[in-house]
Amino acid sequence: MTAAATELPITRSCPYAPPAEHRRLREEAPVSKVTLPSGAQVWALTRHEDVRAVLNDPRFSSDRANPNFPLLLLGGQRRAIRFRPSLISMDPPEHGPARRAVVGEFTVKRMAALRPRIQEIVDQHIDAMLAGPRPADLVQALSLPVPSLVICELLGVPYADHDFFQTRSAKLLRRTTPAEERIAAVDELRSYLDELITRKETEPGEDLLSRQLDKSEDREELVSLAFLLLIAGHETTANMISLGTMSLLEYPEALATIREDPARTPHAVEELLRYFTIAEFATARVATEDVEVGGVLIRKGEGVIGLGNTANRDPEVFANPDELDVTRGARHHVAFGFGPHQCLGQNLARMELEIVFNTLFRRIPGLALAVPSEQLSFKDDANVYGLYELPVTW
Ligand code: HEM
Repeated sequence: MTAAATELPITRSCPYAPPAEHRRLREEAPVSKVTLPSGAQVWALTRHEDVRAVLNDPRFSSDRANPNFPLLLLGGQRRAIRFRPSLISMDPPEHGPARRAVVGEFTVKRMAALRPRIQEIVDQHIDAMLAGPRPADLVQALSLPVPSLVICELLGVPYADHDFFQTRSAKLLRRTTPAEERIAAVDELRSYLDELITRKETEPGEDLLSRQLDKSEDREELVSLAFLLLIAGHETTANMISLGTMSLLEYPEALATIREDPARTPHAVEELLRYFTIAEFATARVATEDVEVGGVLIRKGEGVIGLGNTANRDPEVFANPDELDVTRGARHHVAFGFGPHQCLGQNLARMELEIVFNTLFRRIPGLALAVPSEQLSFKDDANVYGLYELPVTW
């Protein structure tokens, strides 16, 4: 490939929208070369149709160990990582059976059975927040603990260890974390989960990891699954709780819509997922053959990154895409990816978000931001977008 003009990542000028340059790419060169922090050049896709086509095409690989796989890391950080087999990195024929072994844990029915417990967890955290000082940081009071507790109970990980895994997870998601700290965070988390799984061999519980132990012979793969579910299962949803709450407070009309009829909240959740598309750098691939995408030839071995946030603002698919319209049916967004690797935890994430928003705004009708939104600290340096803090009062 020749020199690419656009360098990723670009810091947003507006916290509510993808960088203007991404939009320009979609309008002028929807399949175009960009340069990553490592210096690698890859293709960026910005149209909804092209992103879905690539994510659903078996000629594109998810293998993150492939040196051409687009990761937003510096070259040194990347070289230091020891890649292990993990569901999110698998291709056929391994991916299908590995996903089928765990997908039953995340069906709509299984998730519905968790609803009363999630409601209880949300209520307890709101009780504690109301009993504490004002202003409160919603990230620490609600956004992080709710999904962390839920994924801990589901996996059978002791929630008492949440400081341990949350600090390491945050380091992994920050792009600025030096290579040695990154490796240490991965190693510590893996040894922790390995020991936990060893204990479950002799003392199994009523939890996902104990059930997977019966199905899986491969310890390294089971540790990778636990690792993926623990990290993906709390940090992503936590960021959506914070960003969603912030936006609903900033857009009173949107908030009024769900307050008048909480049955509309699932639509609002879809729209917020589309609007922020927090994990857009996760939807990357490597071509295993020459493939034409959107009229452009992508050669075997070249990396591709589907900029889901920009694809989710594609006016061909979403009318007035830059507007937050909580009544639109936005379910065909690509915030959870698309195709065989589409987010395994999406039913859980949707339910957690719905319960949190409905409960929070019902129980604290006077909830407000405690600082002007311009003073909020957004995760511009992380691979999953979000807020570091959300000071609220009531
Ligand atoms: C995959 C986003 C919540 C577990 C993905 C992918 C995206 C995503 C974009 C696709 C990656 C790819 O194509 O390579 C999100 C967002 C969430 C969320 C935005 C919250 C709002 C969760 C939760 C869990 C989870 C709660 C677990 C309980 C996974 C797993 C995969 C995945 C295991 C890999 C699936 C596979 O490769 O077959 N997620 N996720 N995610 N997510 Fe999520």
